[in-house]
Amino acid sequence: MNHIYYFSGTKNTEVISEKIVDELIIHGEEAKCYDIAMINKGIVESNYDYTRIAIGFPVHAFNMPSIVEDFIKQLPQAKGRKAFVFQTAGDYYRINHSGLVKAKKLLQMKGYDVIYEKAFVMGSNFWIAYSKKFVKQLYSINIEKINFMIDEIINGVERHVSVNKVICELTEIIHEGEEKLGAKLFGLTLKANKDCTLCGKCVRGCPVDNISISDGKIKFGNNCMWCMNCVYICPVKAIEQQFMKRVIIEDGYNIRRIIEDISIDIDNYKLDEGVAKRFESYFKDLSL
Ligand SMILES: Cc1cc2nc3c(=O)[nH]c(=O)nc-3n(C[C@H](O)[C@H](O)[C@H](O)COP(=O)(O)O)c2cc1C
Ligand code: SF4
Ligand code: SF4
Repeated sequence: MNHIYYFSGTKNTEVISEKIVDELIIHGEEAKCYDIAMINKGIVESNYDYTRIAIGFPVHAFNMPSIVEDFIKQLPQAKGRKAFVFQTAGDYYRINHSGLVKAKKLLQMKGYDVIYEKAFVMGSNFWIAYSKKFVKQLYSINIEKINFMIDEIINGVERHVSVNKVICELTEIIHEGEEKLGAKLFGLTLKANKDCTLCGKCVRGCPVDNISISDGKIKFGNNCMWCMNCVYICPVKAIEQQFMKRVIIEDGYNIRRIIEDISIDIDNYKLDEGVAKRFESYFKDLSL
């Protein structure tokens, strides 16, 4: 049995996790995915009765969110079990691999045999907005990459990423600043405007229970992890950021809507106009 444990703020990592499960099943394996936030909240139970484990997460400030780090730390000892790790990112930089290296190290400390690390570039939910066509192109090539990866894993092929030790240490510092300062400030300066209908969607969707309704108003606490869920999930776009407006994609971000939108016509290998050249190799080489 394969257990895929993932964290996902805006569903990029979730859709990739679901496709990994589908692909494992196509390859004749048993597989199930679990949302780490739902486990933490006690909404979903997991028995940790797996023979192979995968850990998936979005890159936040070049590294792995600490909600995932904490989850790995409480996993049972491996007892000879295999593991693979994957991440989704909004861009194609090697520095992003620091999170994969960290996840691998933590799993190895538990005795897991980490056989594969993989980075998937998805739409960016932060700062840089890609066209919907390009986001769909990325998703489409990622489906092929998942097929390639699962094929290799089942056939015993190993793939590893490496990042210079100094770069890893640097990303640790940047990431700590992002979580301990940036995220807190971001959360404390969010505000629901008068359009809020108190539907509670943002409250239920927050992975760390940082949003509450009190005295008929939406309140944000100081535990934000900067996942962006609430700002994009609100059906009436009522959540405003007072000082860091630029990090929010103006048109919102909804990967499932983009995938399902049949009016977005894509051609896998003919990249959307205006997309930087650096993505060409990502599209051409399934092993990247
Ligand atoms: C606070 C924050 C920091 C981010 N930092 C990076 C980064 O350092 N590098 C990158 O490529 N993408 C970065 N992103 C983009 C996300 O990693 C990317 O869109 C990811 O696929 C989102 O996954 P999710 O929908 O599962 O949360 C960041 C996103 C957020 C919200
Ligand atoms: S999702 Fe939007 S409308 Fe619903 S409670 Fe939150 S801020 Fe209000
Ligand atoms: S407050 Fe919003 S951005 Fe912060 S962790 Fe909760 S859902 Fe994510």
